[in-house]
Amino acid sequence: MKSYLKSFISPKKIFYKNISFLAYWSNDSTFSKHSEIRRFAKLKSCKIGKYSRVNPNSKFSNVTVGNFTAIGRDTTIGLGKHPLNYVSTQNIFYKKNNMNNQWVKNIDFPAERTYIGNDVWIGVEAMILDGVVIGDGAVIGARSVVTKDIPPYAIAVGSPAKVIKYRLEKEVIERLLEIKWWDFTDEKISEKVEFFREKEVTIDVLNKYFPKEK
Ligand SMILES: CC(C)(COP(=O)(O)OP(=O)(O)OC[C@H]1O[C@@H](n2cnc3c(N)ncnc32)[C@H](O)[C@@H]1OP(=O)(O)O)[C@@H](O)C(=O)NCCC(=O)NCCS
Repeated sequence: MKSYLKSFISPKKIFYKNISFLAYWSNDSTFSKHSEIRRFAKLKSCKIGKYSRVNPNSKFSNVTVGNFTAIGRDTTIGLGKHPLNYVSTQNIFYKKNNMNNQWVKNIDFPAERTYIGNDVWIGVEAMILDGVVIGDGAVIGARSVVTKDIPPYAIAVGSPAKVIKYRLEKEVIERLLEIKWWDFTDEKISEKVEFFREKEVTIDVLNKYFPKEK
């Protein structure tokens, strides 16, 4: 709790216009002035990229989120694991706690980091388990439980989440992963803004805006 106190009075809540007064984060969390962190979102050891939005009441621990990603409200990501091989899974035996510390002996059980790519859309109330990697451009359905890695541009739904289709053709996906538009400067995005208004993304459209060098 102590590590969140600073965030209650952080100047970022004044100078970063899209950070809610009611959002909080641990000291070691970072985000861009172009990120949006909404009310009651709670970030522990997280890195949130530019133009990415964390909607209300979402809770993340040990998560890296890329740029231009939108995460629905009440989503939980990487909230932790308990070891399964000891006689008890209760962390009262291996982690300092509020109930009883007389039995605690620390064990080597490092938290796994979870990676959410760029331009990902996560529907409301999804749960993404520790250590999962969600590829760039993927979509996760509302209330899905993601237990395994999801490839770029896949649409995955359900519990456990399964890939039902891909947003774009394979060849287009491969080119987009080379172009990495999400790393462009704001100026370059402005230059190419018509690209983002194309209703259909085909290889011809990509060639129009990003001609292949010969
Ligand atoms: C993932 C999603 C984008 C897929 O949209 P879509 O491509 O139009 O998908 P469809 O409606 O054609 O559904 C395809 C199949 O997946 C199933 N499905 C869709 N979303 C699902 C979900 N969240 N959980 C479980 N199954 C789902 C459908 O029932 C359908 O199954 P069927 O083939 O057996 O009939 C959408 O369903 C979704 O969950 N959107 C998130 C909404 C949200 O959270 N909005 C808040 C804004 S942040």
